[in-house]
Amino acid sequence: MQVSRALFDDVMVPNYAPPAVIPVKGQGSRIWDQEGREYIDFAGGIAVNCLGHCHPAPVRALQEQSEKVWHLANVMTNEPALRLAKKLTDATFAERVYFANSGTEANEAALKLARRWAFNEYGEHKDEIISFERSFHGRTFFAVSVGGQKAYSDGFGPKPGAIRHAVFNDLASLEAVISDKTCAVMMEPLQGEGGIIDADPAFIKGVRELCDKHNALLIFDEVQTGVGRTGHLYAYMDTGVTPDILTSAKALGGGFPIGAMLTTAEIASHLKPGTHGSTYGGNPLACAVAEATFDTVNDDALLAGVRTRSEQFKHGLEAINARYGIFKDIRGKGLLIGAELIDEHAGRAKEILQAALREGLLSLVAGANVVRFTPSLVIPEADIEEGLARFEAAIDSLFGTVAKAG
Ligand SMILES: Cc1ncc(COP(=O)(O)O)c(C=O)c1O
Repeated sequence: MQVSRALFDDVMVPNYAPPAVIPVKGQGSRIWDQEGREYIDFAGGIAVNCLGHCHPAPVRALQEQSEKVWHLANVMTNEPALRLAKKLTDATFAERVYFANSGTEANEAALKLARRWAFNEYGEHKDEIISFERSFHGRTFFAVSVGGQKAYSDGFGPKPGAIRHAVFNDLASLEAVISDKTCAVMMEPLQGEGGIIDADPAFIKGVRELCDKHNALLIFDEVQTGVGRTGHLYAYMDTGVTPDILTSAKALGGGFPIGAMLTTAEIASHLKPGTHGSTYGGNPLACAVAEATFDTVNDDALLAGVRTRSEQFKHGLEAINARYGIFKDIRGKGLLIGAELIDEHAGRAKEILQAALREGLLSLVAGANVVRFTPSLVIPEADIEEGLARFEAAIDSLFGTVAKAG
């Protein structure tokens, strides 16, 4: 059956608005559409394809596992899930792992666990969850209500209660809402969807201290920052602060759907049999792919390579900006990079993304004013150069005349 973008409007729920092109093949940091046109991928499936497209290690793992066992559900455990959990616990603060299928589900598990832990340890009154304005934690109703962007949670009826929001990077604002009723504070160590905003070192330490003072759990949502994205295996490892619960997804499967919630044995003990679950969570295919992906990323040389590429990427963007002067800030960590538009061009990030696509480059936005880049962690340096040249061509197509006149 021949299909085209036009069919999307006839058969799909219109909650997404994809462009006209349909990619059919990917290799490394390049993809090709139905017409055979090639694109450089600076989007990486929104920080998911950490090893690019069709990397041999996860491909091999998927092929091998596909001939062994696909699915058992959690009535039984399976070898890939156990191996992956062992590797995750060996590499992080965590002692226990719960597998889900996505970031929002990992967060859902984290939030339910925090509530259950507080209920068991302190009683019913300790139920408040605090997160931060502009944070993003996924789209299931609990996670999206905890997220700090009301536009995503309004209009769906009554929201889960006992959720409060403070201002990110403003400790006084957290201090004003946190209390002994707080069961958990959830935060991204570096806000992704909210605009690529890193937590100040003093802020993140202060959040940990306030959580300790009020016996509240600290949950790091590392769905976007985890698995090498910031140049560290997990972003928390570069902060000097250890969370009580950490959620991981996106890059964990390198493109195969999987999520994980990591925590200590003591906290985990509150999710007794029957309290929470998922049919697919810990699926052998997903865990086999994630294991191969995790093994490849959890490597000092690869992580150092992310930090080198980050410098190259940011220097390239700064050089473009020196010529066009359209960004007021180029920021981010590792290969989670944002370029924020000057006020004069506020709201035009999407337009830039569309112009980049016309030049053969996939990029992302983080809100209306920030162009975001989350390429493969092993993107060849030559692809970064060529992608940035295409990005400059896109900028020139939109702002060239103005910049030259100016
Ligand atoms: C920090 C963060 N948490 C949670 C999610 C939700 O993940 P998923 O879309 O896999 O449910 C995202 C997705 O963008 C995210 O960036």
